[in-house]
This record gives sequence, C-alpha cells and structure tokens, in this order.
Amino acid sequence: NVQYNKNIVWQQMTITRKKRAESLQQVPKTIWLTGLSGAGKSTLINEMDKRLFAQRKKTMVLDGDNVRMGLNGDLGFRKEDREENIRRVAEVAKLMNDAGIIVLTSFISPFEADRQKAREIIGEDSFIEIYVSTPLEECEKRDVKGLYKKARKGKITDFSGISSPYEVPRNADIVVDTSGKKIEDCVDEIMEQLSAIMDEN
Ligand code: PPS
Repeated sequence: NVQYNKNIVWQQMTITRKKRAESLQQVPKTIWLTGLSGAGKSTLINEMDKRLFAQRKKTMVLDGDNVRMGLNGDLGFRKEDREENIRRVAEVAKLMNDAGIIVLTSFISPFEADRQKAREIIGEDSFIEIYVSTPLEECEKRDVKGLYKKARKGKITDFSGISSPYEVPRNADIVVDTSGKKIEDCVDEIMEQLSAIMDEN
C-alpha cells in the first residue's frame, strides 16, 4: 500500500469534476476490460472507442502494452508489479474521469483484489467491469504474439493462465467470450449492454 505524506492537504479547485463533465456534456466512466492475453481486449476496446468517438463522446484508451512502454515501464509481471500497474492505471483513469473523459482500459488485471482496489479508487458509480472470458485454450490457439509458445517453453515466467493465476471476475457488469464470433457482433453486444448501464445515470 502506498502511503502519502501526512503533511499533505487536499487543495479544492474552483472548476470541479461536475462542472468539467457538464461542460463536455457526458457522464465520465471508466470501462475496465479484464481477461487473458489474446482474449481480444485490445481489439474490442479499439472498436468500442471508435463507436463512442463516432457518437462524439470524449474518450481515452489505456492499454497494457502501451502503458507499460511509458508510465509503467519500470514494472514487470510479478504479483507486486501487476498490483502497482493496476493501481497506477486506476489513479490515471480517475484523473481522466475527473477531467470529464470516458476512459477505456485494457489490462489483464488478473487479481480480484487489484480489480476491487481499482473499483474503489475510481469509484463504484464510475466503474464498469467487462470480463472478456475467451477461454485459455482459444487464447493459446490464437497466440497472436507467440507469447504462449514462449511461456510453455519456460522462456517467459509468470505468464497469466500458464505460470501465473487469472482469477475469474465475480463482479463483472458485462461478460463476453470472443471465440467463434465476429468482432462486430461482440461489439454490438457490448455496446447495447453498455448504453443501458451508462443511461442509468
Ligand atoms: S497486468 O497483469 O494487468 O499487469 O498485465 P498488462 O499490463 O495488461 O500487460 C499484459 C501484456 O503484456 C505482455 N506480457 C505478458 N502478459 C502476461 N504475463 C506475462 N508474463 C507477460 N509478459 C509480457 C502481453 O503482450 C500482454 O498483452 P495482452 O494485450 O494482454 O496480450
């Protein structure tokens, strides 16, 4: 747990989160995708982002591979590193939500406790969890990046689903399995459920 300095005092700014959201005419949310490597998270999030963008929503995407090339370039794949990865991403998503933006995140986020912490950081009302439930066998069959092959040979350690656990989400708002389906159909399915959830508030 990161402890902040006790001599720090929260500074209240004039332009609040509420005012920023009103100015962008949208309700900021963080749409959090979780699932194994190769489950289809990045592809889905890109398509979802395109749909929201076409609806003139102000969005931003945070993707595991990309964030790990910058902000989280110092982190690996041990449990503590994944925990810190998810914590930082959640804090960034929260800041973007504060700015009024709808954030789409794509991280394996394999541990329930880390996803729960992300939910707490971002806030229950702003957090929408999507479990991309494509089974390991299918992800491994796809092996788009050749990482499963390396993991099976022991050339990559702590690989999710092989040598590191993936805890199935218990609180997902939406569940989607991309195996044997067209990406367009998966996105249709998600967007329908998503707009129902987003219209609730
Ligand atoms: S985590 O668990 O949320 O911190 O992981 P994430 O930040 O999403 O990073 C996952 C991407 O990193 C690549 N990669 C690995 N994944 C899992 N385990 C190990 N050991 C590993 N090493 C590298 C991989 O390309 C993941 O991308 P996706 O898009 O999920 O396939």
